[in-house]
Amino acid sequence: MLNAYEIVDHKYDIVVVGAGGGGLRATLGMAAAGLKTACISKVFPTRSHTVAAQGGIGAALGNMAEDHWEWHMYDTVKGADWLGDQDAIEYMCREAVPSVVELEHFGVPFSRTDEGKIYQRPFGGHMRNYGEAPVQRACAAADRTGHAILHTLYQQCLKNEAEFYIEYFVLDLIMGVDGTCEGVITWNLEDGSIHVFRGHQVVLATGGYGRSYFSATSAHTCTGDGNGMVARVGIPLQDHEFVQFHPTGIYGSGCLITEGARGEGGYLTNCEGERFMERYAPTAKDLASRDVVSRAMTIEIREGRGYGADADHIQLHLEHLGEEILRQRLPGITETARIFAGVDASKEPCPVIPTVHYNMGGIPTNHMAEVLRPTSDNPDAIVPGLMAIGECACASVHGANRLGTNSLLDIVVFGRAAAIRARELIEPGTPLRPFRKGCADESLSRFDRLRFAGGAISTARLRERMQRTMQANAAVFRTSEVLKEGCKLIEEVWSGLSDINLSDRSMIWNSDLVEALELENLMLCSKATMYSAEGRRESRGAHAHEDFPDRDDKAWMKHSLVWFDEKGDVTLDYRPVHAWTLTDEVEYIKPQERVY
Ligand code: FUM
Repeated sequence: MLNAYEIVDHKYDIVVVGAGGGGLRATLGMAAAGLKTACISKVFPTRSHTVAAQGGIGAALGNMAEDHWEWHMYDTVKGADWLGDQDAIEYMCREAVPSVVELEHFGVPFSRTDEGKIYQRPFGGHMRNYGEAPVQRACAAADRTGHAILHTLYQQCLKNEAEFYIEYFVLDLIMGVDGTCEGVITWNLEDGSIHVFRGHQVVLATGGYGRSYFSATSAHTCTGDGNGMVARVGIPLQDHEFVQFHPTGIYGSGCLITEGARGEGGYLTNCEGERFMERYAPTAKDLASRDVVSRAMTIEIREGRGYGADADHIQLHLEHLGEEILRQRLPGITETARIFAGVDASKEPCPVIPTVHYNMGGIPTNHMAEVLRPTSDNPDAIVPGLMAIGECACASVHGANRLGTNSLLDIVVFGRAAAIRARELIEPGTPLRPFRKGCADESLSRFDRLRFAGGAISTARLRERMQRTMQANAAVFRTSEVLKEGCKLIEEVWSGLSDINLSDRSMIWNSDLVEALELENLMLCSKATMYSAEGRRESRGAHAHEDFPDRDDKAWMKHSLVWFDEKGDVTLDYRPVHAWTLTDEVEYIKPQERVY
């Protein structure tokens, strides 16, 4: 029987869920436009995972050498292996320039050139003149760019009187009978109270689900909460098979060593001391796209050319850069290498291995952040009242593989786009629709089921089984056999959710219950990844299928959609890629062979 929870009611024009860079940029734009905006976060805003973004934010400012947003667009389409929606990519690359200038004016402390302009460094897959040679496009604040952006945006939000609800865990979306999103139901971790927030728009900015895997650069808070929420209300998850492995996670700990390290001149070697990337990507070399570098490293290790007693890692060399460059441009990763690898980067190489870093897939949206629920008549049908931005969303600007620096760009550009669209849609102070009776019951029964779960397996044990399954069965290289087995194994883990055991029943600071709620979200994300990977019979971007090693544009230039029913069973479906641009300033970039 449902517990009688007393529910505290809040009314806003806009409810933003998540206070990373995307959530804060949206909150800022909306609050500044006079919309009464609440931003809800399960962690203190400046602890959101954006804080960990290191190397830079991509924008063709041309501060260090000639550059154009059209070149950036070409690189992004190619990096995405032609699975990206080109209307959205055009929007992102064009809006990159004013969005970064705005950040500068908000007060982001970017590194500077001698002339006082924003410093820019090369990054993987960013090239001049449609693929000729690397270009300096990553606007950097040393190697702490995310930290600088996050803190600045939080200060700007406070200045604009946005209201924050910190350490509130959002349980579920509240949907009206006509399919409009009307608000969210949340649990206040500090005092145990239950709250509903109504708004004309709910904006999900909940980040990725890196913690589906055993080893990831993502924070432990990256648990796919927004993806879980939409999956539970019958909105599909798109392109979840595309999981990015960053080439340089520290061997053993998974901590990120920025690609900016290679942008500053760092390089990789195998145990023969060979700079092997010259063989795999003769033009871009160590600055090829991440999927290309991660695959090359995996092949070197598989063929016995890894370092160490188990020949299972690669070395990243920064020693030759000198102490001054390391101190000025890469202070954060110099410290990370010392703490997590026991290495003095100015004297010795750092052991690295491809590590789960980013989810290209997520909640389907259009280029103005509006969530889509494709129907048979309309693959771009909008869910009224619901937006999604950043890593939880799939606009789709990253397609099958994201370029480094395009994640900070994505959150800033689409956070800003969400605010622009909200201003068009909502007159501040317009009365809200009343909730339907019992709208929170289903969510609260799920909450109770977990809170009083008295089964045989702990959340931590079940989570580890899920993470090890994902690590083994949805890795850099995949085969039909391994993926089929992965679907079976992930179903077994999923059924373990009904046998979970929680020792703590309390409503206050119950971290066991938080982790169980997060695990349910992670499980939906993991299932979506495994099933859509099993379904895609080609290789494209981060999905390297050894039984189908080629890209097949005829059959597979389409987005995967995973739908869940109430029991959590999966149906797989597809929607077409947007093969058009937004304006006639640029032409659709036709698929080509992808070489670096
Ligand atoms: O390597 C990095 O600094 C990561 C950047 C990114 O994922 O965009």
